[in-house]
Amino acid sequence: MPSVIIGADHAGYTLKESIKPLLEALGYNITDAGPHNEASVDYPDYGNQVAQAVASGNYDCGILICGTGLGMSMVANRYPEIRAALCNDLFSAIMSRRHNDANILVLGGRVVGITLAEEIVRAWATTPFDGGRHSDRLNKFCRCRDA
Ligand code: RB5
Repeated sequence: MPSVIIGADHAGYTLKESIKPLLEALGYNITDAGPHNEASVDYPDYGNQVAQAVASGNYDCGILICGTGLGMSMVANRYPEIRAALCNDLFSAIMSRRHNDANILVLGGRVVGITLAEEIVRAWATTPFDGGRHSDRLNKFCRCRDA
């Protein structure tokens, strides 16, 4: 059973709760890093928690949700092992798996509605990595500072 760890802030809390039944239906073992209510919180606290958990190999993938998805993306992508993809549209969600092997999906809870978010999550969770030349490109990520 694949494992996913999900986290949000107050602006992503409602969407986080809404996608849980879909993740269960898709066969995921879900860990909810929180928050567990709509009280105002700081998105880096949850972004760090989810990114560290995925980076350590304890989970197959992660999902992060804040208002726009921007803050969570910025936090998660500070970890070398993380390829977090902000996908507020279906095409990006599919391509983030096929070409980028994204291991964290980021959504904007104030950008997408629940129906689109569900389609994005379904596509992201079921689309495999293409590998091949895309693996070669991912292997160059570690050279960013040398370029
Ligand atoms: C919270 O108001 C908002 O700043 C946060 O959810 C996120 O959009 C930050 O990038």
